[in-house]
Amino acid sequence: MTLITSRYRTLALATCIGMLLVLLAGALVTNTNSGRGCGDDFPLCNGKFIPAYTVESLIEYSHRLISGLVGLLVLATFIMTIVSYRRYREAIIYAASAGFFTVLQAVLGAIAVVWPQSSAVLALHFGISILAFTSTLLLLLWADRMRRSGGKEDRLSRPIPRSVVVLLLIALVYTYIVIYIGAFIRHTHSSGGCMGWPLCNGQLVPSLEGATLYVFIHRVAAAVLLFFIAGIWLHIKRYCSNVPELRKSANLAFILICCQVLSGAVLTATLNNSDWLVFTSILHNMIVSAFFAVLADMLIRSWKRREGRT
Ligand code: HEM
Repeated sequence: MTLITSRYRTLALATCIGMLLVLLAGALVTNTNSGRGCGDDFPLCNGKFIPAYTVESLIEYSHRLISGLVGLLVLATFIMTIVSYRRYREAIIYAASAGFFTVLQAVLGAIAVVWPQSSAVLALHFGISILAFTSTLLLLLWADRMRRSGGKEDRLSRPIPRSVVVLLLIALVYTYIVIYIGAFIRHTHSSGGCMGWPLCNGQLVPSLEGATLYVFIHRVAAAVLLFFIAGIWLHIKRYCSNVPELRKSANLAFILICCQVLSGAVLTATLNNSDWLVFTSILHNMIVSAFFAVLADMLIRSWKRREGRT
């Protein structure tokens, strides 16, 4: 039995918080249109190590600096996992995927700066950041549960019906698609396509073209996701009533998806106020990151304890 040291737990926590800051800084870059704040230079900023003091270049440069520091934290976590906990396959997978997605995120970000990309490619960036954040959060949860159980591998208290595992897998993949559509709206500057909520430009079904079409698809996809998660919540309540850990996570996922829809409504209400929009869209990003990570954690725990598995 191996005990998780507090040093390792602290490193995992710092990496996870750092990754959240990278997500936040990335959102700030797109929200303040600072993506070209360093010109088309990488890794320098407008050809200099210390950038000119325009707000845009400072935001873009801070984003790069935070990403670089968090990259080092991810590397340190990976090395410490290999050195001290290599017999735990789960920890190695989380640490390695955090490393993989962080490198992919940095490479995509650098390519986007040097060779301006299509909106479809830029929209991928946010989804990859979410995968990197989720990996670091899963590692932190793994370390916490190991510490709490005195070194025993995490295991849900009862077997989980396969239907729950399948529903959670579909929900996770579908959420990723809704996230991509949201990021696509951002990168095509289509947010104003639907003013007002719940109606879009005063209509239940607006004329479906251009920006309105993108935002309307995002809203419909979001509504389907809300009902789907409500269905999973009820399914877990009914068929996993004796697994309180999973029921707790299902409650949390349901609360988060309701908050996500509300934050979408608040974001829409602030579309004409650029000061507030920075905060409301960061809120929209933060809630969805937490929601995606909770769903991934539920899927992994249920899959490890699925019915029929010895
Ligand atoms: C419930 C599921 C939802 C998910 C998973 C989701 C996810 C996202 C994501 C990931 C983004 C892109 C963030 C970025 O690239 O920085 C986004 C953007 C956006 N979402 Fe949602 N969203 C949801 C619901 C809604 C709802 C219900 C509304 C409207 C009422 C909405 C309105 C918007 C708008 C207007 C944008 C563009 C923001 C901008 O350009 O700054 N979303 N969404």
